[in-house]
Amino acid sequence: MIKLNLNEEWIKRIDEIIAAFLPEEEGFPKPLYEAMNYSMKTGGKRIRPILLQETFKLFSAENDEVCHAMMAAIEMIHTYSLVHDDLPAMDNDEYRRGQKTTHIVYGEAMAILAGDGLLNLAYETAIKVLNTADTVMLTRGVKALKILAEKAGCKGMIGGQTADILAEDGLLEPSDELLYFIHGHKTAALIQSAMMIGGILAGADDENIAKLAKAAYNIGVAFQLQDDILDVTGNFQDLGKPIGSDAENHKLTGVIMKGLAEAHKEVSALSIEAIEILNSFPRQNEFLVKLVESLICRKK
Ligand code: IPE
Ligand code: IPE
Ligand code: MG
Ligand code: MG
Ligand code: MG
Repeated sequence: MIKLNLNEEWIKRIDEIIAAFLPEEEGFPKPLYEAMNYSMKTGGKRIRPILLQETFKLFSAENDEVCHAMMAAIEMIHTYSLVHDDLPAMDNDEYRRGQKTTHIVYGEAMAILAGDGLLNLAYETAIKVLNTADTVMLTRGVKALKILAEKAGCKGMIGGQTADILAEDGLLEPSDELLYFIHGHKTAALIQSAMMIGGILAGADDENIAKLAKAAYNIGVAFQLQDDILDVTGNFQDLGKPIGSDAENHKLTGVIMKGLAEAHKEVSALSIEAIEILNSFPRQNEFLVKLVESLICRKK
């Protein structure tokens, strides 16, 4: 299996694209901007923006600059979800991306506000996709914004985070259906939005967007199952976040429901099915396929 180093040059390129959209640290709310920039700083794998950009390339040979604002927006939404996910009221974690979590450094109030700030800045940024006189791009931009809002919202990622918390508190009965609801929403929904938006901006038709949604669902559920596995088998050095957090919080995870071996098998099976879908499109993107393959055995 081809391995892709998750520390490569392309992460720096994504970081540069994102940096252009981050706030200046000035004025009375300066600590807010500092907390936002602190949480967004390098150390993240930038999987969602890269999936967006590479899915665009799967459908178009045009300049991908049209994706940049959306790439930054998706990473902001993802990062806000992590800042809030780490709060004491949720997963109560003290490390993220190899550094102290935002609430540990800036306090809970500022971490909540930094999350709120990133969420709003994400839409301020995403909406720049409409800064065009090209009516075709305008139509695609509106469609992309709708997907972003839906997948990040209460019927998407936030719905998944809610079920995750209810399950942890024993307020929902554990079942496979619940596990796939949680993973499909808290994690796969944003990954779906990244890949669907890449396709939409490149002009992919509805049938292909539906196929992308399926591939991205698989990639997202596999990604979360691997995250669950790494919470048991990983190490802090590679992950930059504490292991054992799920057990401490009595989370409903892939490892709890299936055991390590079965969960790993499923990560592979879901990823292989996703790759088959990616290979079925008229154009090919070898890098995208390698990226999905490398996620199966990722250690970080
Ligand atoms: C962590 O996401 C939360 C999950 C959905 C599993 P990532 O593993 O993409 O975290 P970063 O962005 O690389 O820190
Ligand atoms: C987080 O899932 C998913 C979102 C933040 C939406 P986890 O709680 O498993 O992520 P980590 O392990 O803290 O990164
Ligand atoms: Mg969580
Ligand atoms: Mg967590
Ligand atoms: Mg986790």
